[in-house]
Amino acid sequence: MITQNTIQQILSRIDIVEIVGSFVKLKKRGTNYIGLCPFHNEKSPSFTVSASKEIYKCFGCGRSGNSIGFLMEAEKYSYAEALRWLAAKYNVEIEETETSPEYKQQQQVAESLYIINNFAQKFFSNALLNTDEGQDIALSYLKERGFREETIKKFQLGFNPEARDSFTKAALAAQYSQEYLQKSGSVNVREGNAYDNYRGRIIFPIHNQSGKVLGFGARIIKSNDKAPKYINTPENEIYVKSKLLYGSYFARQAIDKADECLLVEGYTDVVSLHQAGIENVVASGGTSLTPDQLRLIKKYTNNLTIIYDGDNAGIKAALRGLDLALEESLNVKLVLIPDKEDPDSYVNKVGATAFADFIANNKRDVILFQLDIALKDAGSDSNKKSIIVNQIAETIAKINKAEDFTKQQDYIKKCSEILKIEESGLHVLVNKFIREKITKAENQQIRDDHFAAENAAANATDTIDSEVLGLFNKDEMHERAMVRSLLEFGTKNWDDEQKVATYIFKEIELNQLDELIDNKELVKILHTYKAWCNEGIEPTAKNFLYHDNLQMSSLVVSIMDFNYEISPKWKEHFEGHLPTREDLFKEEVFSTLNYLKLKKIKRLIDENQRDLEKSTVSEEQMIFIQTHQHLKQMEIELTKILGTVIFK
Ligand code: UTP
Ligand code: MN
Repeated sequence: MITQNTIQQILSRIDIVEIVGSFVKLKKRGTNYIGLCPFHNEKSPSFTVSASKEIYKCFGCGRSGNSIGFLMEAEKYSYAEALRWLAAKYNVEIEETETSPEYKQQQQVAESLYIINNFAQKFFSNALLNTDEGQDIALSYLKERGFREETIKKFQLGFNPEARDSFTKAALAAQYSQEYLQKSGSVNVREGNAYDNYRGRIIFPIHNQSGKVLGFGARIIKSNDKAPKYINTPENEIYVKSKLLYGSYFARQAIDKADECLLVEGYTDVVSLHQAGIENVVASGGTSLTPDQLRLIKKYTNNLTIIYDGDNAGIKAALRGLDLALEESLNVKLVLIPDKEDPDSYVNKVGATAFADFIANNKRDVILFQLDIALKDAGSDSNKKSIIVNQIAETIAKINKAEDFTKQQDYIKKCSEILKIEESGLHVLVNKFIREKITKAENQQIRDDHFAAENAAANATDTIDSEVLGLFNKDEMHERAMVRSLLEFGTKNWDDEQKVATYIFKEIELNQLDELIDNKELVKILHTYKAWCNEGIEPTAKNFLYHDNLQMSSLVVSIMDFNYEISPKWKEHFEGHLPTREDLFKEEVFSTLNYLKLKKIKRLIDENQRDLEKSTVSEEQMIFIQTHQHLKQMEIELTKILGTVIFK
């Protein structure tokens, strides 16, 4: 973990205009900066950055956040990765808290493996490009297949010479330990003798998201019945097959731009398509997609197009597990390449434009496709057919996001047509599965409740939606306004004796917060504020903005507002004396507090009224009536203070 001290140092140097400015062209307008939003397509700028508040907000798509949030959104960084990026930018040395010895050990192994792989990749590249053997055997083969030198260099392809141990010797001479070389997979050891694992093969380095080499795929050059076509790196601390996609490092930006990810089977398919200018492509290595791989794709786009050769026997297996894609609202399409070709050979045959056209025009829905195959398999066996109906209903039930509702209805319609069954029947069945799922989820919820707090941070993005909804709630508006006053003006002097924060906390008892404020996240902010005061941490808006609890920081972002720009005409009109919120902060604090109190009194009146209606004992009724009058009196006084009128 990065220490608090380092985080503070980074935060003290952060300049949001500079950070956002390295991705978005910004122009100064008034006290803010504006530019074209990097998160949605727009022609006129609605993306606004406030230097003083250190937040950005797009008035077009509604995205908002702080510098770290921006990096997380724009670069798909994790929180820690964003901090590391900033540390590098602002020359802050990163200090890490003590981690467990096992973790440290694993990090060290990982680090060593990266270093070895880097060395190996350079060795293999050199062997391919700069040795006679490499040029004669491997480079000529690659060129014959149509790979250009610039492509070969970009993907850092290489060659492991035929000799038993040319790489092993070079690596040992460079002082790499045999143990780690073996772990990296490039070296094998048999009866104490170390030798090259990939000898005589073409090398495809496999990169992680930031371009570091995780491992290799090594392809045989002359096919041979005895040897496997590919030898892959064994699983180790950094090479975890289920979590990586070949080519993702080179495809990232293109996927973002096209808002679509193409998925092929093989390394050569990726390289060939890339060379043809189709760059939004990754490979799964021929196996079905894992949840981790789906998540990786989902980070960049909601649209996945799987490209397979038409008569591939493995196609059914490859499409397994895609139910998960539905749950994640990923749109999955399938394109089958005709004539026994694969994407690599097909693009070489028809050219880039025809290939792209073919993909665009031959997308099939993956769910319907699977249904088709299953039905063909079942033939006229009615038992098998009813199993299929159940399975498809269960699959459709997995579509659960509200925004996918039409998609779900659409599937029910189309599937019942294909199955030749009543649409309403399928409806009932799907609903049955949905209900089952909800019951299961509810039971799970009860078990999970006490873990919820820890997971809250991870779900920060979900809360933003509820935040937006919250804006329509008038009570919540007042709650937010109060917390905003505290965050913005808390450290100012209220009078000679106390700060604004002290005054606020005197007016609202901390132990009554739950009654006064409905939004529990806002209550959390208030408690943290108070705790920070006690611990001597400055409770500035900025410290909240960068709180490592993302749910809290995104809530703070959403309650801070931008300074509204006041037109010069108005300024003239007021002869430069137009009061700002800053000038009126006492009024603001006073009125936000009183709104909350008023709200509480209204609620008490309602409760009292209900009690009165229920009561049958006349003495009791008397007390309720008196209480009512008392509360009404308080309401009238408060309302007078606030200068509002009660209509009720
Ligand atoms: P392919 O046989 O289609 O290979 O396997 P390819 O990469 O397209 O190579 P060329 O075009 O025939 O030269 C698809 C993927 O399956 C994995 C590899 O990831 C390969 O890229 N595979 C295949 C293995 O891991 N081991 C094997 O023996 C074969
Ligand atoms: Mn191939």
